[in-house]
Order: sequence, then C-alpha cells, then structure tokens
Amino acid sequence: MKISNSSSPILPPLKKILVLGSGGRENALAWAMRKCKSIEEVWVAPGNGGTENHQGCKRLNIQENDVKAIINKCQASKLDLVVIGPEAPLAEGVADELREAGLTVFGPGANGAKLEASKTWAKELMLEAGVPTARYWSVSTEEEALVTLKNFQGPLVVKADGLAAGKGVTVAETIEEAKTAIQEAFNGKYGASGEKLVLEERLQGPEVSVFALCDGQRMVLLPPAQDHKRLKEGDQGPNTGGMGAYAPAPLLNEEDLNNVKELVLEPTLKALRERGIDYRGVIYAGLMITNAGPKVIEYNCRFGDPECQTLIPLLGPELANILHACALGCLEQAPKLFISNLCSACVVAATSGYPEAPRYGDLININIQLNQSLQLFHAGTRSNDKNDVFTSGGRVLSVVAQAPSFDEAFKKAYAGLDDIHFNGINFRRDIGNQVRKF
Ligand code: AMP
Ligand code: GLY
Repeated sequence: MKISNSSSPILPPLKKILVLGSGGRENALAWAMRKCKSIEEVWVAPGNGGTENHQGCKRLNIQENDVKAIINKCQASKLDLVVIGPEAPLAEGVADELREAGLTVFGPGANGAKLEASKTWAKELMLEAGVPTARYWSVSTEEEALVTLKNFQGPLVVKADGLAAGKGVTVAETIEEAKTAIQEAFNGKYGASGEKLVLEERLQGPEVSVFALCDGQRMVLLPPAQDHKRLKEGDQGPNTGGMGAYAPAPLLNEEDLNNVKELVLEPTLKALRERGIDYRGVIYAGLMITNAGPKVIEYNCRFGDPECQTLIPLLGPELANILHACALGCLEQAPKLFISNLCSACVVAATSGYPEAPRYGDLININIQLNQSLQLFHAGTRSNDKNDVFTSGGRVLSVVAQAPSFDEAFKKAYAGLDDIHFNGINFRRDIGNQVRKF
C-alpha cells in the first residue's frame, strides 16, 4: 500500500462488508466482494433466496432503508464498508445517515442521488457542465407542457421528473401520444414523481451504458455494457428493468470510452463537486450514440441491473478494495482494477406476467453446474428452511457466462438456463443479437 502524501486516509483493512438490496445486482455484488482475499464476512440485507448460495455470504433480515437496524448491525459486528445497491435508499438519504453515524459507505448521499431522482436537476447539471444531451423543456403544469408540445410541432419524449421504477418515460411516436402521456402524468399516473416533467427532443441511435466508480474526485471506468430493456424478442413489448445484457459492448472502443470519460463523466463529477457534492459511488451514464456523437439519455446513481451481473465476473477481486477506496475518498491508493478481455453474456429469466402482473410462488428447479465462467445470480427468489427456492419477484434470476467470443458466451448462458425450470419461466432467446451470429 502506498503512503498517502495528501490529507486522504491510508486504506484501512477490509474484512467485513454489508451490501444493501435484494436484487440480482446485490447478489452479484456480494459474490464479487467475497472474491477479495481479505474479506471474512459479506452480509446482504435483506438479500434473497440465493444470497447464502455464495460461500461466506449471509442474509440479514433488515430492510435496506431501516437505518437504525443497519447502524446497530454495523457497529455491533464492526463492519468496514456498506455498499448500497438500489436507487430508492440512496434518494432517501440512507447513505447520509449511515455516514453521520461514522460508517464507511459506497453510494452517494441524497444530494448526489438527484442525478437519478430528479431529471430536471440532472438536465440542469448537464447543461452547466457542457455534457452532450438532448434539448429539453422542464414543465410543472399541464398547460405549460401542452404549449411546449404545440410549439415544438413534433412528438417529444415525455419523462416524469422523479423516480418511477423505470416506467416514467414515454417515447412518443406521435404528437397525440405525447399529449396523452402529458395528461396521464398530470392526472397522477406517477404520483409525486410526475408533478414535474421533462419534455425532451427524441434522439436516434443505439444505446450503451457506462459506469464510473467515483471517490468524489477521481474515477475508474468499467467496460461499456448493453442492456435489453424490452420484454420480448426483437425489442418488442413493454419496457422492463432489463432482460439481459452483454459486455464489453463493441459500440464503444477504448478510445471512444476515453472520450466519454472526458466529455461526460469527468465534467459531471466536476459539476457535482462545484455544487458542494462529494459523490462517492457509481455514476451510470445511459448514452445514445447519435450521428453527432454520444449523448446522455439519463444518469443513474447506482450500478445497472442486469449490467452489474454481466460486468462483475470480468473484474478482478480487488473490486472490493476499489469500492472501499471510493467510499473513503482515496481511490489513488486502491490497487489497479483487473478487467478481463473475455466477453460476458447475461440472460434474465422472469416470471409470467412480468412486468405488469408477475406471478409468484412457483418452485424453482435448479440443476445448473456452475464453474469459473458460469454464474447464477438470484433476484426475485425466496427460500424456505428446507432450502426449496420459490419465485418471489418479476425478474427471478440471471445466468451469466464468459468466453473468448460472444457466440460461445451466450451458448453457455443459454445452456445453463436450460437447466433451470419453474412454471411460467420467460426469457428472451435473442439477448446479444447485435454481437452474435444466428
Ligand atoms: P430513461 O428512463 O431516461 O433511461 O428512458 C428510458 C428509455 O427511453 C431509454 O433507454 C431510451 O430507450 C428511451 N429514451 C429516453 N430519452 C430518449 C430520447 N431523448 N430520445 C430517444 N429515446 C429516449
Ligand atoms: N438495466 C437498467 C437499469 O438498471 O436502470
């Protein structure tokens, strides 16, 4: 370890970690933390039916926003680091309260989480920082919105300002459709999240996600990943949290990724700092690669799900030390992150009825033989005391595989999925179609 020559602390030992959240992302994070040699215990609260399948990982029956119980556990068990997975507790200020109690936390405070929790705020920050993005209008009444739409004379993208579980965006094909989306939002479709809207010019181009692990000042970038948001093959059907992903997405080569760092991520972190925000966590930039270059479609304040499950097997065991260093504000002291040059393929299995009315409670039969390059991450699952596992959420699990080519990686992931059965299992067979031969 290097001796610090600045005011930042020297990286203390890292032995015990708590991951907050219950999804596939948190299941993968716990698995990744356990790979780090110095780690003795990984707790996940509230976790899911697969948490304890990872050796050394334990479930805690505490909700991710139950700050008092989290602080008690962390103090009693002398936990070294808390990693917050989902956006809701971040937006609620859970990271702030844990930090006030003296804990070391990876995840931004409520002020930084506004990158995701308020689209208006995020757009203003992009403008201020000179980050390329679509033209937009921020509106707080239906009348204002309809006048803006009329003046624009084309279908605008309609976005609820606040968190809406990935469902607050309408990419309207016609002016009439945009009008309906505006009226629905002001009639309460998204509750308080839709009291303000962002109306945005529609961009065209493929999408890619880039993740920066930040310590307030510095950052480490992960390989670009591509998500598949639509439920059905051929990108049809409703939007979901994500039905699969792959990485590294060839849409951005190393030089392009560096450009995105300089054009988007570094100016974003600088603008946050200028607002007095010490951002220690993930900045997730959802980009559209337009004819005029990459533009930001959205920011999130956390890892993507299922992008996280896809990326994490490509990263070295020092990831835990890097998150720790980010949380302590001393990324320069962290070991260099190893990134494998393999291709990673992730396919999500959902329940029937997802996303509108997911069916729960079916027994899951799992015969998959996992190995170094094949992982199973649970999401919407629960287990009973006989270790039977049942579906308990819309996105049930993801199978992730790595190989020298995307063709091989997807072949392995799909073969793995064939060894998993539950009533109503639903997954897309065309994940990664952009990078595979059919
Ligand atoms: P968001 O929740 O902001 O990521 O939006 C959800 C999805 O809507 C994105 O992944 C895009 O596919 C689409 N989208 C959002 N904004 C735009 C835009 N300005 N132009 C075209 N598509 C968009
Ligand atoms: N997979 C998209 C998201 O996590 O927001």
